[in-house]
Amino acid sequence: MSTPDTLPAPDAAATPAPVALAVAGLSIRFGGLMAVEDMTFEVREGEVLSLIGPNGAGKTSAFNAITGYIPASSGSITYRGVPLTGLKPDQIAGHGVVRTFQKTSVFNGLPVLDNVLIGLHRRARQHPLAIMLGLPGVRRDEARLRDLAWEILDLVSLRGRAGEVAASLSYGELRLLEVAIALAAEPTLLLLDEPVSGMNPAETGAFMALIARIRTRGTTILLVEHDMKMVMGVSDRVVCLNQGRIIADGPPAAIQRDPQVIRAYLGERYVRARG
Ligand SMILES: Nc1ncnc2c1ncn2[C@@H]1O[C@H](COP(=O)(O)OP(=O)(O)OP(=O)(O)O)[C@@H](O)[C@H]1O
Ligand SMILES: [Mg+2]
Repeated sequence: MSTPDTLPAPDAAATPAPVALAVAGLSIRFGGLMAVEDMTFEVREGEVLSLIGPNGAGKTSAFNAITGYIPASSGSITYRGVPLTGLKPDQIAGHGVVRTFQKTSVFNGLPVLDNVLIGLHRRARQHPLAIMLGLPGVRRDEARLRDLAWEILDLVSLRGRAGEVAASLSYGELRLLEVAIALAAEPTLLLLDEPVSGMNPAETGAFMALIARIRTRGTTILLVEHDMKMVMGVSDRVVCLNQGRIIADGPPAAIQRDPQVIRAYLGERYVRARG
């Protein structure tokens, strides 16, 4: 036999990727209300992790604390070894942790391409005077940023709408533009809060494909979503919150069968519908 006996090749899936985001003992209090209580979970590099749970479970509050929009009452949030707790949203974005903003980040009167370019300029931090004088370095940068903007529009499938003003986009396209603007900030961890809410099934399907394309670029994704077809279809792992506490953390297949998750959130109807 010419083929020697060898040890099996190391299984890539068996070696977990390094931890990207570590949330430890996070609690968020609003006056007398404990919105998030002692939340501990990790997101690994390149992973798509979904946070699910009933209305008011604390998902958005957790997002807001991770991205610096509300303070944590206690606990720690660390990204790639950097403590994020206490940092401002733009400082956190500077570390690669970026979220989408519904509508607020879009300039309605400007073309789609310009909306993405503004996001890229914010990242490039060029001196306004250098831009005004049209210095050669700026012109070179300008060409590079334009290329990047087109690349992002290709990724979100909005190239064909680049010249239209944002106000003329359909609902689904506007949500894609929000993602494009977030991508312009060059996230390594992208947070999406209910990105397909209000989308029709075709738009939702296209959005699932977009998530797959974004992760192919190596971007880690933290998703909050009530659309279970999407959650179960795109996630590597799912964390379920109920009344501020994590009640389950595991792969989609296990989460769908978890009695606590079914009782608190999915419901027997979901289980029967799945067969
Ligand atoms: N700024 C705030 N001030 C006071 N209470 C708040 C604030 N933000 C959220 N809450 C409360 O905290 C709890 C958790 O809300 P949160 O928005 O995090 O839930 P959620 O899981 O995102 O729900 P949904 O699925 O409906 O979006 C709720 O009881 C909510 O009313
Ligand atoms: Mg929410």
